[in-house]
Amino acid sequence: MKKILLTGALGQIGTELTDKLRKTYGTDNVIATDIRENDSHVVKDGLFEILDVTDAAAMAEIAQKHKVDTIIHLAALLSATAEAKPLLAWNLNMGGLVNALEVSREQNCQFFTPSSIGAFGPITPKSLTPQDTIQRPTTMYGVNKVAGELLCDYYYHKFGLDTRGLRFPGLISYVAPPGGGTTDYAVEIYYEAIEKGSYTSYIDKGTYMDMMYMPDALNAIVNLMEADPAKLKHRNSFNVTAMSIEPEMVAAEIRKHIPSFTLDYNVDPVRQSIADSWPDSIDATAAKEEWGFEAEYDLEKMTKDMLTKLEEKKA
Ligand code: SER
Repeated sequence: MKKILLTGALGQIGTELTDKLRKTYGTDNVIATDIRENDSHVVKDGLFEILDVTDAAAMAEIAQKHKVDTIIHLAALLSATAEAKPLLAWNLNMGGLVNALEVSREQNCQFFTPSSIGAFGPITPKSLTPQDTIQRPTTMYGVNKVAGELLCDYYYHKFGLDTRGLRFPGLISYVAPPGGGTTDYAVEIYYEAIEKGSYTSYIDKGTYMDMMYMPDALNAIVNLMEADPAKLKHRNSFNVTAMSIEPEMVAAEIRKHIPSFTLDYNVDPVRQSIADSWPDSIDATAAKEEWGFEAEYDLEKMTKDMLTKLEEKKA
């Protein structure tokens, strides 16, 4: 039976992953942690502890107290925030990761942390970016992600730690908002379609990035964690994706449900240049072959579900 410690449990992924893990492995087998508290189900409906991931001793103590055998480390700053505060991003993203890896090593835990399409850079092949290719990102977030992928590989090879990871594309969801990411437009557009019937995008027309709907991301995490280790050649940083899209495509799909929806642009040069340095589309063949990755939601199916769920939330 797994006993799982989650960091960053109140973030966009953690809020929904905590729920899924409690349902899958039992409420008492999931210890959600975050640097803050709120009044969500994550805090109220199960085990929850305040944890600053840069505090190694506190992390070790919580892991020991609950006798965890799995650590899912999600706490991190996203790309746009990391670009605004690069030193903080280095300290939090790398400091938190190395602490979580060390606690996993000391307490012999299975380990998961997400990487990102942000681990690629402007000289990476842009279309159907292969699993193993040139990375060389130009953002602090990307530097953190590449270093993180390598560090997880290192802990596997050096210490035999069972590290696993995914390179997530932009994740679209309706429960908790993302914060400070470059791909956030693809979440905001749905919220504003419902609230205002229009959206002003900070990402320019024709800018393709990969995206995935949250239910597919959560399944991917659980399936990779459960995958037969003998079949994994890559372990950390598997490319996963469900769609390669640009703002006009999302708008066209929204108009099938809200015909009067309008999209215009006020491009943010910082986030646009981050987006321009990332792939247009990535190739998830290795994830499909090594542990059977599959995404259920394409743009059409996701749009229908997002708009329905956001309408329900509003009512
Ligand atoms: N969604 C993330 C970001 O935009 C990418 O990993 O920063």
